Amino acid sequence: MVENSQHLSSDPIGVFDSGVGGLTVLHELLVALPHEDFVYLGDTARFPYGTRSPDELLAFSLEITDLLLAEKAKLIVVACNSATAAALEHLEAHVATVAPGVDVIGVVMPESQLAVEATHNGRIGLLATPATVASDAYTRAVKACDPHVKLFSVPCPDLAPIIQGGFPFDQRVVDTVRSYCEPLRAAEVDTVILGCTHYPLVRPMLQRSLGRDTKLITSGAAAAARVERALTVRGLENHQTDEGDYRFLCTGDVESFRSLGTNFLQMPLGNVAHVEVVESGARP
Ligand code: DGL
Repeated sequence: MVENSQHLSSDPIGVFDSGVGGLTVLHELLVALPHEDFVYLGDTARFPYGTRSPDELLAFSLEITDLLLAEKAKLIVVACNSATAAALEHLEAHVATVAPGVDVIGVVMPESQLAVEATHNGRIGLLATPATVASDAYTRAVKACDPHVKLFSVPCPDLAPIIQGGFPFDQRVVDTVRSYCEPLRAAEVDTVILGCTHYPLVRPMLQRSLGRDTKLITSGAAAAARVERALTVRGLENHQTDEGDYRFLCTGDVESFRSLGTNFLQMPLGNVAHVEVVESGARP
């Protein structure tokens, strides 16, 4: 258990994901909040999350949240869509108990709000992992924003692993992207939520498959606005005038994180350290 502590505006924002995918979210946060410091934790030892059960996702998310609180995170971004979908409410309740004053920001509601604002024909598509689609979290969030909007969800079991293993991208990635976009074209959606941290990396392929007029909604941009508001309301914005720092923790191999992570962040990675997790990642 992490004890409550007073948070300072100079403390970092904690961000976590199942692995390197959330670096696409961190990238957007770094652009939107250039004066903030960030500590990012990638649970690479237990990737992928997209086929995990809700109980596993909750246990992993609680453990990682405590690790970020121990790093003095003043706010926590759950960059992983699968973790947000399964665990956000539990994480909020947990953090309210162990570290009052620390906000927990997920990606499902901010993305859903942006998508609902963007659609004109009231037909939104969702591409996400099987765990995220099965949770119905986006269906509930979109409905809460506007009950008249219809969500068409496509579970994409292969897409995150294929993107992760696919550098440089080849025809197999293009074909996989196209097959998952097909039902959304048929449903005539005008807006598509990229409901997984990996998908922004194949944005050009998605845009081509879905048509150039389809609006693509990413979670980083959506979450950044919410993070900024939360920090302002709590008076926790970092007032440094220089660019903030960012550093990394991962539960798996440090060098693999560094080499793969550079592709995802599209910026050099600095300090990467290993951190141990106790919850077993073993699959039954
Ligand atoms: N971070 C995960 C998500 O956004 C990527 C995919 C995975 O771990 O299966 O759902």
